[in-house]
Amino acid sequence: MAFRVGVLISGEGSNLQAILDTLHGNEIEVVAVASSRHGARGLERARQAGIEVEVFARDDYPDRDARDAALGNWLADRQVDLVVLAGFMEILSGAFIRRFEGRVVNVHPSLLPAFPGVGAIEQALDYGVQVMGVTVHFVDEGVDSGPVILQESFELPYARDIEVIEEHIHRIEHRLLPRAVSLIAAGSVRFDPDNPRLARTGGRDG
Ligand code: GRF
Repeated sequence: MAFRVGVLISGEGSNLQAILDTLHGNEIEVVAVASSRHGARGLERARQAGIEVEVFARDDYPDRDARDAALGNWLADRQVDLVVLAGFMEILSGAFIRRFEGRVVNVHPSLLPAFPGVGAIEQALDYGVQVMGVTVHFVDEGVDSGPVILQESFELPYARDIEVIEEHIHRIEHRLLPRAVSLIAAGSVRFDPDNPRLARTGGRDG
């Protein structure tokens, strides 16, 4: 039976596109795409792939808990095995995270735990880092604080053009996020019984 994935977006949806291009229809089935913003470009990408879409904007509900409950019901009705946050720019309520415990992943443009939250790339550049990277992690009730699944780093040149760096980060994200989803779908991500934060992702020592 296909591994069913729901993807949450807020904007461009290039990470969603990477999942559609590499995994959808073979390793997994993207069965639902929800956006926190009306008119997000990613909704169009999903529609073009024939995927069911819905908008769950915070302002359309009395509060965040009500929005997240509706979003959770919509995803549960579609029987998703995994929820992927792909540029979803909002914090989900604790109730949502507990409902889908261990089944929500996020891609973040820094080497966590450095630079969580919004503006991670700018924060890292302001700090003067020499190494940057991307993290895919499980989502817990904190901000970008759940167990790491995959990380990839790269060294920065002295000359820093933020657009070039952003593009480089996106290229890594578009590889790393589908790889993490693929590993989870294959049942290849397990936690070390002695350290519940340490994900084992198959391979030699997995
Ligand atoms: C990505 O850089 C992601 O890491 C960040 O927001 C961006 C979303 O890009 N949280 P897209 O919508 O997938 O194109």
